[in-house]
Amino acid sequence: SLIVRHHVRSSRRWVKTVEILKELEDKCATSNAKLKQIADAMTVEMHAGLASEGGSKLKMLISYVDNLPTGDEEGVYYALDLGGTNFRVLRVQLAGKSGIKSQEFAEVSIPPQLMIGTSQALFDYIAAELAKFVADEGDKFHLPPGRQRELGFTFSFPVMQLSIDSGSLMRWTKGFSIHDMVGQDVVAELTHAMKRQGVDMRVSALVNDTVGTLAGGRYDNKDVVIAVILGTGSNAAYVERAQGIPKWHGPPPKSGEMVVNMEWGNFRSSQLPLTEYDNALDVESLNPNEQIFEKMISGMYLGELLRRVLYRMADEAALFGVIVPQKLKTPFILRTPEMSAMHHDTSSDLRVVGNKMKDILEISNTSLKTRRVVVELCNIIATRGARLAASGILGILKKLGRDTVREGETPNTVIAMDGGLYEHYTEYSKCMESALHELVGDKVSDTIKLVHSNDGSGIGAALLAASHSQYLEVDGS
Ligand code: GLC
Repeated sequence: SLIVRHHVRSSRRWVKTVEILKELEDKCATSNAKLKQIADAMTVEMHAGLASEGGSKLKMLISYVDNLPTGDEEGVYYALDLGGTNFRVLRVQLAGKSGIKSQEFAEVSIPPQLMIGTSQALFDYIAAELAKFVADEGDKFHLPPGRQRELGFTFSFPVMQLSIDSGSLMRWTKGFSIHDMVGQDVVAELTHAMKRQGVDMRVSALVNDTVGTLAGGRYDNKDVVIAVILGTGSNAAYVERAQGIPKWHGPPPKSGEMVVNMEWGNFRSSQLPLTEYDNALDVESLNPNEQIFEKMISGMYLGELLRRVLYRMADEAALFGVIVPQKLKTPFILRTPEMSAMHHDTSSDLRVVGNKMKDILEISNTSLKTRRVVVELCNIIATRGARLAASGILGILKKLGRDTVREGETPNTVIAMDGGLYEHYTEYSKCMESALHELVGDKVSDTIKLVHSNDGSGIGAALLAASHSQYLEVDGS
């Protein structure tokens, strides 16, 4: 009878596990009809954000980039890319029509304590790496006498720009939280730090990573009009008609166009399929009530959502035995790359899942049944994120009138994509692309192409540094 009681108990636990799973599946459902409503809501917010400053949760930030690279850019330029867990320094040698002659970079991970410390500590660290990078090049790239090195600064946070080379940080997103930086001019901060580290460089362009990716993408393909980042965070930029930006009171750009950084991570709508896990994650985050869309779709959060569901299963359904495993209580212990590895596990006994559960969560001897549940949770969470990302893209296509085919005048729309999530989480990217295809239909889908713009944001920033060089008029170019 002891055995019978054990069976009854374990089947009751199993029923509860399945109940939690089903509930999650229901709450995360994203029918095509729902995605279309979300896309419509996105389009509405885009209009509102363009109409007036603060008119929407979507900031629709003016980038001051009104000319994208042409392919004529020439010279040696630098870029600094800050915005995720790593930062990069780049040097690009541009040879006009012959393209990129050489390109080198150094990548350094940012010590976590610097993400929540002081502005000076973070920028000194970055400027010191930049100093090393420049010192290492010797006299290989000597510039004409008296000519200063120029840098494109990719800073992937919401910034209110005042010009192409200045702008103040509106607030931090992702894992960063450095209070004394908010409201400060990020170019001034970097410039001061470079001085302190003895680097003689001028920041000639300040860009968001989406804007850099758009510029880098355009350099390779003139049909690029949208850029989307799916990485630690998520965001999009696109080319808007200057006349479509009522809040822009500056001189009308010659091109008639302006790149807009949407900051779509901060989108929210009553249509979004939010769960108790999303709400709890948000409340306990560094930026409660902000970046709700980002928290549902981007790499920083997917693994954490998975952890939260597993925790509930452990707690309420004793999925891992009567005691809730200690490690499962640690926020952000399950990172999205690990989730991706489990989701892609094709072995018959799901041994990757088993190993991750053991190595990361110290849960050993998981049954195959339990491992299947874990994979199913990965699938539910990633599918929701990927499909929502697709609905965001549909929102932009609608705003641009590129979601329909008109006889004889349908332009090709190329979308430059980048970010670790897009690049490495295959199930996610595949799902996102097929959702987009379903949403626009076969005909329109034939006019839309997603291209991976590998490190486009860094190269894009260097290209924009070139087209905004202080020496341009002097050179007569
Ligand atoms: C966050 C930032 C945004 C950036 C995105 C992708 O959403 O706020 O500026 O583009 O992450 O890195």
